[in-house]
Amino acid sequence: MLFSLRGPFLAMYVCVCRAVTENEVHDCIAAGAKSARQIRDTTGAGGDCASCVRKICAILKRSEELATA
Ligand code: FES
Repeated sequence: MLFSLRGPFLAMYVCVCRAVTENEVHDCIAAGAKSARQIRDTTGAGGDCASCVRKICAILKRSEELATA
């Protein structure tokens, strides 16, 4: 994953093509996204080469596990 400084925080990119950070994906999940498609429709992540979709699915799964734990 790539790192970038955005404001005072270190941003970790999940999707390089669309410059979408892990925090943006988490915000999208917190707002109710339940699938990679919903995250793509909201943030654009996964809309180009799609190599990030597995990472997005892993974040979704981890969030789901934390929510049910
Ligand atoms: S890295 Fe996400 S679409 Fe290419």
